[in-house]
Amino acid sequence: MSAPRVVSLGLWAFLLCCLLCGSAPAQSASPAAWKSRTIYQLLTDRFAQTSDGSYAPCNNLSNYCGGSFQGIINHLDYIIGMGFDAIWISPIVTNTPGGYHGYWSQDLFGINPHFGTADDLRQLISACHARGVWVMLDVVANHMGGNVPMSQLSPFNQSEHYHRCVACPSNCQINDYTPEVQLCKLAGLPDLNQTNPYVKSQLINWIRTLMDYGFDGLRIDTVPEIEPGFWVDFVSAANTYAVGEVFSDLSCCATYQKQALPGVLSYPLFWTLRSVFQQKQSMNQLQSTFFSYQSQFADMDLLGTFIDNHDNARFLSGTSDYKLYQNAITYTLMAQGIPIIYYGTEQGYDGTNDPNNRESLWQTRFSTQNPLYQLIRTIVSYRKQAQVWQYPQVQRYSDDTFYAFTRGTTFVALTNAGSNSGTLMRTITYHPYKEGTKLCEIFYPTDCVVVQNGSFPVYLDNGESKIFYPVN
Ligand SMILES: *[C@@H]1O[C@H](CO)[C@@H](O)[C@H](O)[C@H]1NC(C)=O
Ligand SMILES: *[C@@H]1O[C@H](CO)[C@@H](O)[C@H](O)[C@H]1NC(C)=O
Ligand SMILES: *[C@@H]1O[C@H](CO)[C@@H](O)[C@H](O)[C@H]1NC(C)=O
Ligand SMILES: *[C@@H]1O[C@H](CO)[C@@H](O)[C@H](O)[C@H]1NC(C)=O
Repeated sequence: MSAPRVVSLGLWAFLLCCLLCGSAPAQSASPAAWKSRTIYQLLTDRFAQTSDGSYAPCNNLSNYCGGSFQGIINHLDYIIGMGFDAIWISPIVTNTPGGYHGYWSQDLFGINPHFGTADDLRQLISACHARGVWVMLDVVANHMGGNVPMSQLSPFNQSEHYHRCVACPSNCQINDYTPEVQLCKLAGLPDLNQTNPYVKSQLINWIRTLMDYGFDGLRIDTVPEIEPGFWVDFVSAANTYAVGEVFSDLSCCATYQKQALPGVLSYPLFWTLRSVFQQKQSMNQLQSTFFSYQSQFADMDLLGTFIDNHDNARFLSGTSDYKLYQNAITYTLMAQGIPIIYYGTEQGYDGTNDPNNRESLWQTRFSTQNPLYQLIRTIVSYRKQAQVWQYPQVQRYSDDTFYAFTRGTTFVALTNAGSNSGTLMRTITYHPYKEGTKLCEIFYPTDCVVVQNGSFPVYLDNGESKIFYPVN
């Protein structure tokens, strides 16, 4: 009697779901759901080729190197092996010649044939979803690619689709915050006029079409280069979490999170992390940035936290000290925000400015032996086990060379002293633990301290970072 009943209940649930879900718009991940994710950022052209072949490195980083959607599918284990449960892929649309990075759109509705077909893209997304990995797509709505006649750009082939600004510089930069920033030609590229009703409706139509592939979120290029009201409509049409690039200072980033997008890339923190860990400037800068973030951002948990990306010389191009990098990575993965690790970080890549920071990855043979690969795996695994995103960041200690914070009962200790700096000791008196609590460490689990007389000591040897958790 009971077995058929279970079957029929299951059948009813199935039919009900078909009725309810069938007509609803494609469901995508909400901003709140993204808070628990850890993102691996990659450039499709540079991560993996369809066939690994000889693993020879790319010899011209200014042009296509041969990476593909199928290459990503082939090497998902490598990404998942570090614990990542989301990837951010570079833009997928057909680009003008040389647009290996994807930021030079030629045909918004075409898929870049260098990376594969629309079906290959769908297979990538389903392969990711089958492994519990979300896919974030990078999109550009500010400009199209250059170096081709306007008649070859689609669907914007008329001069009225672009801003005509006589007073603007013909070539502006991403960090120019002049009043013309919304009208000028970024890097000289044709600048779309989103006030034109055809342009706006096509861009909205386009993002809906892209979301139908099954993407879980968006990374949005050049946010301050378009007025905030456009982004509200764009993100609403996409119906998903979006993190935007605001290549600017804190008050500017905070304004865009309030007025335009659920999340922005955490550029102000990026500069602080570079200053503190790469340039070894006072760690009190972390304190001031953190307090400013708390007072100015609408939601720190929705910011995209990073230490490297495709637009800046890599961290290790400014120092070869892995211990400093370890601390910067530890902060990135444990602080409030959605962590984003740029491909190649785990292999100790040290490329300078673009395109040298866009190295091919395959020459590493996707080895998992690099200590940075293992460091990331250990921290991300802990991050998930302790669900640190559920707990606010509380600063516990700050001076020139030592900084500590907690997330719930997790204690994170950092230094910018660097390798060969001997032992640094601090006594922690401001903490959430009861007398007698034993705290052990994730990298060396037998390394434990006990809270006595209200305090506990933290020892950092030769510039290491530590993450403690209570065991009793
Ligand atoms: C690399 O590619 C760029 C862009 O196509 C081209 O201009 C340049 O000549 C190439 N360099 C070499 C060394 O082949
Ligand atoms: C622009 O594209 C439209 C639609 O494809 C086409 O009908 C029209 O001829 C094109 N105009 C120019 C100037 O190329
Ligand atoms: C943008 O388009 C609108 C509507 O077509 C037009 O009024 C405006 O002058 C254009 N702006 C520029 C700078 O070309
Ligand atoms: C704790 O405080 C008591 C009383 O001041 C003192 O006798 C004891 O040595 C302290 N223990 C530690 C581990 O500091």
